[in-house]
Amino acid sequence: NKRRTREHLQQKYQSGEKIAVLTCYDATFANVLEKAGIDILLVGDSLGNVIQGKPDTLSVSLEDMLYHTTCVARSTHKAFIIADMPFGTFQVSPQETFTHAARLLAAGAQMVKIEGGRHMAETVDFLTNRGIPVCAHIGLTPQSLHQLGGYKLQGKKTEDAQRLREDAMALQEAGTAMLVMEMMPATLAGEITQRLSIPTIGIGAGSICSGQVLVLHDMLGIYPGKPPRFVRNFLQDTNSIHSAVEAYVQAVRSGMFPANEHAF
Ligand code: KIV
Ligand code: NA
Repeated sequence: NKRRTREHLQQKYQSGEKIAVLTCYDATFANVLEKAGIDILLVGDSLGNVIQGKPDTLSVSLEDMLYHTTCVARSTHKAFIIADMPFGTFQVSPQETFTHAARLLAAGAQMVKIEGGRHMAETVDFLTNRGIPVCAHIGLTPQSLHQLGGYKLQGKKTEDAQRLREDAMALQEAGTAMLVMEMMPATLAGEITQRLSIPTIGIGAGSICSGQVLVLHDMLGIYPGKPPRFVRNFLQDTNSIHSAVEAYVQAVRSGMFPANEHAF
């Protein structure tokens, strides 16, 4: 009944067992997800969308992240918890980032997640050498919405794919513990996964990644509007949220999710 550690995740990764991740923002869902066997609960800044009803994640604050991380940590005792660093809290300097990340760990996270490629390597190095494990996030990075010009597939062009390969390597070298890849061609994400010696977690990045993540409200089919192509509704074939989450864990572990229809 002890909380999962990086070693548990590393063991899963090394034995080839897929890692099942879902976002989570509150105590009740955290409890359901933990009981259903989710390996990692990601307190994502997607809470700006699904909890706060905002059009994007740009105005999510550190206080918001601390509050939701506390709620998730309080009601669980096994799940590994990763908390997103919100926009504006990790871009200025490694020193300032450390101060913010330390608060997320104090709130109950075991790892923090940072969006961005090689330019974040210095910060990753600074944090990991001072006791804070980091998950990096490349591909579609929603906090760069205005720079990217929309929520779209990344790494389609040869030079963009090459940049993502180099970003992944630079982040690993800097000490990144885990890498989220969002909305990238399945072949590219697969190639990066095979090249790295740390687990990769895909969302819209094909089935070769070491694990998968979805936004909880998306996989339950309760977020309004048309879901992105990479989402599967796991609630529609079951009669409870617990069963839906169990079905997700099972589908990720068996490699049934994502299918080709969810990939690019
Ligand atoms: O905030 C979030 O939910 C995320 C995942 C989709 C990776 O960053
Ligand atoms: Na996020």
